Amino acid sequence: MATTTISAGERSLIFPDGFVWGAATAAYQVEGAARQDGRGPSIWDTFCRRPGKVTGGHTGDVACDHYNRYADDVRLMQEIGLRAYRFSVAWPRVLPGGFGEVNPAGLDFYDRLVDKLLAAGIAPYATLYHWDLPQALEDAGGWTARDTAHRFAEYAGIVYDRLGDRVDTWITVNEPWVAAFLGYGMGVHAPGRTSPADAFRAAHHLLLAHGLGARALREAGAERIALTLNLVPVLTPAQLDDPDATPSRHDAEAVDLIDCLANRQFLDPALRGRHPERLLRIVERTAGLDHIHDGDLALINQPIDLLGINYYSPTVVSARPGEPANPAYPGSEGVAFSGARGPTTAMGWPIVPSALTRLLLRLAADYPDVGLLVTENGAAFDDVVAGGRVADADRVAFIEGHLRAAHAAIEGGADLRGYLVWSFLDNFEWVEGYTKRFGIVHVDFDTLRRLPKDSAAWYREVIARNGLYR
Ligand code: NOJ
Repeated sequence: MATTTISAGERSLIFPDGFVWGAATAAYQVEGAARQDGRGPSIWDTFCRRPGKVTGGHTGDVACDHYNRYADDVRLMQEIGLRAYRFSVAWPRVLPGGFGEVNPAGLDFYDRLVDKLLAAGIAPYATLYHWDLPQALEDAGGWTARDTAHRFAEYAGIVYDRLGDRVDTWITVNEPWVAAFLGYGMGVHAPGRTSPADAFRAAHHLLLAHGLGARALREAGAERIALTLNLVPVLTPAQLDDPDATPSRHDAEAVDLIDCLANRQFLDPALRGRHPERLLRIVERTAGLDHIHDGDLALINQPIDLLGINYYSPTVVSARPGEPANPAYPGSEGVAFSGARGPTTAMGWPIVPSALTRLLLRLAADYPDVGLLVTENGAAFDDVVAGGRVADADRVAFIEGHLRAAHAAIEGGADLRGYLVWSFLDNFEWVEGYTKRFGIVHVDFDTLRRLPKDSAAWYREVIARNGLYR
């Protein structure tokens, strides 16, 4: 692998001892082998086949073929020096029908992967739900059905039984907001339903799944348990330019509403055992409250060790009377969302590293009892392979900026334990198919050849130095 010379200039930043450096992927996005060894269909297999849903009609059938190439991939991780690899377990590989009969070949794959990682000195971080719900469970109501949460806890126990002797860190659910509101509310993710009421029910059941799963894992002896949320710093347009700008009362109110729908809807039940009041009022008028049973909050509020944070970009809002609700946030009437300004990634997402510092400090202040882990941060750019190399200076700058922001939060007192870049490999970016590349390793989707980008070489140096520069 080529090495990148880092020109000094900015102050060197060293991270705390034991800071975990790694990278992340998810099963449907990298594994492929959709019909191999008894895997059952998931909602994403079905969704990808609905015309017009995914760019280019792409599917995860082959993806990076990580299922068959995992040994080479782990070697590559080792070359980069990763200390942790976050992957997800495909529920339909383990339980093709969602519950009942276990598919031993599915578990065998994760068994082999974990052994390979450990032999390479890489800590496995297992996510149990990264959006690939078994289709059979969707047919029985999916996340709108309470039973799905109980099925999840059974599945978590089955996976723990097989891997728990070697996997220390368990992430129950990844980004429940996305699964619920893009999957059941807007219909732009699987299963493609378009009911705000269903989205709120799904959100509650995903939280319940987290709680029941965390309890099952804890009882079985799991060492570290986490929930990963996509947390969105909500800013006014003025705060985008100047983080210290004071918003007007109406704008502050708009910020609070979106923060409630995007962030506190999940943070408060999971970490404080309560619902934000204003959320309950919105849920009640959209979906009723029958799906929330007595005792659910206590189940959801299991003690956890880490909060996983997926951070990509802030959301910018202001008050605008008469504005209809944004379909991603049912209940958001009267709030205007601003488009991107300033530099963006290939996803069109504004690049604002300072919002990560702010987010981490806010979490440390508001939820002080849980350790923090960046389970995803990274960027898609229009990479070009030239002369056998991907010179992705923009990705290096993105990651570096966010590492500086993370370091500032640590200096400010945030208990941040590690950073996992999204992603190890270019992969299936959901509705964008293979057109958006987030990897530090390039994948040629015709030949499936891997090519570490300049960012991988740069990241290797960061890991080796436990920070930036000497
Ligand atoms: C978060 C999701 O967890 C991941 O699956 C996705 O690829 C990245 N965001 C980038 O959109």
